[in-house]
Amino acid sequence: MVHFCPTLRIWGMSYRFGNDAILSDTTSSAEVADGVTMARRSVLRLSAATLAAAFSFSACRATGRGASRATPEPLPADTIDLAEFFTRSYPRAQAFIAAGGPLEEAYLMGVAELMARLQVPTKAACDAQLRTEAEARGVHPRALEFAVVMFDLDPGKGFEHHDHRDYNGVILGVDGEIRCRNFDIVGDDPVPPKGSTFQIRQTRDDLLLPGRFSTLSRTRDNVHEVVAGPDGARMLDVFTMFHAQAKSNWLKVDSKPRDERRGIFDAAWA
Ligand SMILES: [Fe+2]
Repeated sequence: MVHFCPTLRIWGMSYRFGNDAILSDTTSSAEVADGVTMARRSVLRLSAATLAAAFSFSACRATGRGASRATPEPLPADTIDLAEFFTRSYPRAQAFIAAGGPLEEAYLMGVAELMARLQVPTKAACDAQLRTEAEARGVHPRALEFAVVMFDLDPGKGFEHHDHRDYNGVILGVDGEIRCRNFDIVGDDPVPPKGSTFQIRQTRDDLLLPGRFSTLSRTRDNVHEVVAGPDGARMLDVFTMFHAQAKSNWLKVDSKPRDERRGIFDAAWA
């Protein structure tokens, strides 16, 4: 049991309690399943006077006295077309790259959020949009920092192990099924020298059905192998490139793992 002076945030404002607050543990490391322990749960106990002061403060906020009332941002329920997708995504990608790629997981989830609302385009529409974006910026389509590409995979075909050096990606299953296995390069060197044997560790083994996603960052799951199911597949890839030379490099990977339990394979650049 601990006496202290906590600060409570109510609608973005802070209310600081007096020293009558008591933090007491109701559960200290409860075991919720065999070998699984839940972190300790604590309860804040306050005096009647302190609670009255806090609710008075809350009521003042709710009625608008003292400050403006926060308006919750509505959840987007609309779908977007490819042009709108680029309008929203491209400036975000440019800012992300210019800042050196901070919070990459948050960025990737932002891309996926817009992709989840995207009216799935045709391959021709993707190509046309890339040409439009490139013309608007006076560059070749392959020089765009942000690209959308539709791939059709024949049954059992796809891409063997490759990395995504200096770029990240979000994949959306559109049609059929795809097995997507991701790997990390083991060790501190993200680009082991050519000619050397190094290890990669499998980190994911996903079945991409229509509407399901796979993501990879520059440092996480950056190597993958993509194989279509027996009926072939279609997938939509969105790439964010950190420079014009960003590209994939193929790997040769031993089919037999060096360490089966940990999913570690010997590999070398092809
Ligand atoms: Fe890839």
